[in-house]
Amino acid sequence: MTAVRPDIAPKQAPEATRFPTGFVWGAATAAYQVEGAAAEDGRTPSIWDTFSHTPGKVHNGDTGDIAADHYHRFRDDVALMKQLGLKAYRFSISWSRVQPTGRGPAVERGLDFYRKLVDELLEAGIAPVATLYHWDLPQELEDAGGWPQRVTTDRFADYTAIMAGALGDRVTTWTTFNEPWCSAFLGYGSGVHAPGRTEPASALRAAHHLNLAHGRAIEVLRDQLPAGAQTSVTLNLHQVRPLTASAADADAARRIDAVGNRIFTGPMLRGEYPEDLLADTAHLVDWSKLVQDGDLAAISRPVDVLGINYYTPTLVSTPEKGESGSGNDVHGASEFSPWPGSEHVAFHLPEGKARTAMNWSIDPNGLYNLLMDVSRDHPGLPLMVTENGAAFDDYVSPEGRVEDPERIAYLHGHLDAVQRAVADGADVRGYFLWSLMDNFEWAYGYSKRFGTVYVDYASQRRIPKASAHWYSDVIRRHALPEAGLS
Ligand code: FCB
Repeated sequence: MTAVRPDIAPKQAPEATRFPTGFVWGAATAAYQVEGAAAEDGRTPSIWDTFSHTPGKVHNGDTGDIAADHYHRFRDDVALMKQLGLKAYRFSISWSRVQPTGRGPAVERGLDFYRKLVDELLEAGIAPVATLYHWDLPQELEDAGGWPQRVTTDRFADYTAIMAGALGDRVTTWTTFNEPWCSAFLGYGSGVHAPGRTEPASALRAAHHLNLAHGRAIEVLRDQLPAGAQTSVTLNLHQVRPLTASAADADAARRIDAVGNRIFTGPMLRGEYPEDLLADTAHLVDWSKLVQDGDLAAISRPVDVLGINYYTPTLVSTPEKGESGSGNDVHGASEFSPWPGSEHVAFHLPEGKARTAMNWSIDPNGLYNLLMDVSRDHPGLPLMVTENGAAFDDYVSPEGRVEDPERIAYLHGHLDAVQRAVADGADVRGYFLWSLMDNFEWAYGYSKRFGTVYVDYASQRRIPKASAHWYSDVIRRHALPEAGLS
């Protein structure tokens, strides 16, 4: 469905470079990555507190105890967002801050933080976009079995009701989960994320329960939120590509697409798990027992928007081509596979492509293709890019500036990809840059800087990087600058 383009494009008129009316410009963070205040006002540990405090799990022994201290500095941070011209802020709620044991009544002091944050945003004219779960399960629920246990979905439904009650009058866009693939397969498969378990069967069970918890949360939100509120889920859909045109590599790509993407989009958007996924993983779980009557109907409750996070494509082949494991370490290396049932697929880094500080290859066409693929496979479903961005080795110059031309180029390329997808028919409603500011990058601790705002962790001073000024300008124009002028 690629539109025919003239060989020599005329110098673009300003209208051609503008984004659709109403296109939302935002930036994103997540609770454990920015808030800090880990033990304040009644908050109890989540699995990420436990994991980061376990020696050897996180680079340099870093933890989210203080992080970017957003809990105390949110007013200044919102002021900065306003100054940059952001129209929306995507943040997540720390479950163990508002419901410390993951059960029972909420803690008002915890809820107050989010009420104040949301009020501050609304006051600044910035739309709050709340994610209920960005990987930080209350530790007590993990102690009771965590996501591999079905009962955790009951807990999540209760927690959702608490949050809808507390913020439903002022937050109009709600996301159930951020990247459930990471929660299930990095948390319970490769073990590079909390809770650090390496049990392929548990990872699959977790995936089903995350799906079910999503569906149950959508039901709660629909019941409790006023008409007009938007519900969504954010998936890190893998843009999977076979290394060669061989049938074997196509099969490797199919397998990774099944356990990376369709394990979520299947039940959520089509009301069924893909047959090939069930076959690939039948030796690990008895799906006929795991998926109970009514589950698929619950999981497939419609969402208003699908959030898509994209950073880099995934290049795969059969194992014969070697390099097994390489490129398989997104978010951290492990001897255990995050791909249950497809452990032997080999991962590759494309040659000749620039990479970010995460060693992720830079490929804006991957985002274009992803948006077009999802639009084709799920027509009529509005999309939102809920994360996109890059880590580079940023530093403060003697003059006190942070120049990040690579990030500007990355953002420009990916926003151009979004714009091309929109021009070619994809219904993309907005874009959230990851991240508003440098933060705790999970297993990499503070060693990777994704922010468009630099954080000097010693002083907690914020310094907008050159890319922040560039992004601000894009927002103001509602258009990309012509190439070369950025
Ligand atoms: C995504 C996560 C986000 C951040 C970026 C770099 O997978 O959702 O928290 O770690 O990667």
